[in-house]
Amino acid sequence: MRVVALDYPADFEGWRRGARQALMDGLLLEDIEFRVKGDAPTLFMHQERGPPQAAQTTLRVPKEFPQLAKRAICHCDPERFRLLYALLERLQGERALLGNRADPLVHRVNVLAKEVGRDKHKMTAFVRFRLVEGSQPEHYVAWFEPSHYTLDYTAPFFMRRFTGMHWSIFTPYRSAHWDGAVLSFGAGASKQDVPEDDKLEDYWRTYYAHIFNPARVKLKAMQAEMPKKYWKNLPEAGLIQTLTHESEARTRTMLANAPTLPVVREAAAPAEMPENMTSLHGVRQGLEQCEACELCHGATQVVPGEGLGRAAIMLVGEQPGDQEDLEGRPFVGPAGDVLSRALQEAGLERGGLYITNAVKHFKYTMRGKRRLHQRPEMAEIDACRWWLMQEISLVKPLVIVALGATAHRALTGQSPIISKARLGLAALELGPQLQTSYHPSAILRARDEAEGTSMFAMLVDDLRTASSAAGSSQPVRQRVSGAHVL
Ligand code: URA
Repeated sequence: MRVVALDYPADFEGWRRGARQALMDGLLLEDIEFRVKGDAPTLFMHQERGPPQAAQTTLRVPKEFPQLAKRAICHCDPERFRLLYALLERLQGERALLGNRADPLVHRVNVLAKEVGRDKHKMTAFVRFRLVEGSQPEHYVAWFEPSHYTLDYTAPFFMRRFTGMHWSIFTPYRSAHWDGAVLSFGAGASKQDVPEDDKLEDYWRTYYAHIFNPARVKLKAMQAEMPKKYWKNLPEAGLIQTLTHESEARTRTMLANAPTLPVVREAAAPAEMPENMTSLHGVRQGLEQCEACELCHGATQVVPGEGLGRAAIMLVGEQPGDQEDLEGRPFVGPAGDVLSRALQEAGLERGGLYITNAVKHFKYTMRGKRRLHQRPEMAEIDACRWWLMQEISLVKPLVIVALGATAHRALTGQSPIISKARLGLAALELGPQLQTSYHPSAILRARDEAEGTSMFAMLVDDLRTASSAAGSSQPVRQRVSGAHVL
């Protein structure tokens, strides 16, 4: 029996090294025990031994496997290490296995990964930091009890979200620490390690009361999303009932007030920075690994930008739709048809542009069997902004056309009224000029034909404005297509 020692319950690197070596040595599943430091040895029942395996010299796995395994290994199911080993073993002979969701092993590992994804989501929503009194530099700590071993997988999210803060998150099995530069992990702790009284709680309550949106209160849904076990760590939980009682009056006030302009946010780099960020090809590869927000879990695939690598004009849409999500290319569905007609009228060729989206994964909600588009939240736009900035700095367009409010927001941090924002070019700090216009989907949703025709004419006008601002000296060097990247 070979014992593969793992440092902690979600030690993917330890598992990878041990599993790789065991498989290369031709060991069968029943010849290995994965044992987490501090755990008692497992008592295996006698198992039938299969035929010995041939030792392997190289192991090959599809590129989705490491991501899937990294997630599934965080599950609290004690069988997870062995399931992953069995999967790794079968992948050597069955290259397309991961695509077969009906296979019981593939299905089970995907279920583990999905449940971990949900646990991560809960952690990102319910972790509350408290200031350590007298800490210098100021240090914030949080206590959280995840349902799985999700800390390592989720900590990079907090690193991106709170880059400027020094913080620690303690869980019963492990802790994560960020000092503004390095993310490190240590032993688990208990709730007593987190300070009780603090200014931050008051601050958080004030903030929560301020952002509380009474129009969105659905107590049943909140309780489903926010199980009671998390409530005790949430300083705002006590406020919810009071705020709900006041909600009718507050809804009226909210509607009467003009919307506030959000502040421009920084484009934070993804936690696991892809290596080759000097080409659009590298950006595409990096995007395939991106898990900076939850949208990656529901989408079929990421939809990167496509077009001329040095296009003078870049079009930025909102996010892929249903069709784009299935095809992996931007603007290939109904909105793409409207866009193609507008481009043609404006005398622009789609192939001469670079077309991308502010958010690169499809966000939707299920209605029966249909996937209905949902507008991305600011946090999702923020999470994806870094990629958009990479695309801009590589393509170096002279003019960017923001199609709709989300694209405008991603580029400027401001919520526009499109009819006003489109009146003229603006200068972006990044260099290119900005022309804002209507999103093709807004044209499809126009109240009547007259409104649709008029919006379409404005979109054509705006594309013409962009075209003349870009001039005829359009440097063309590199083409990036949906399927093949040069
Ligand atoms: N809407 C967008 O904003 N982008 C697409 O790619 C498709 C529809």
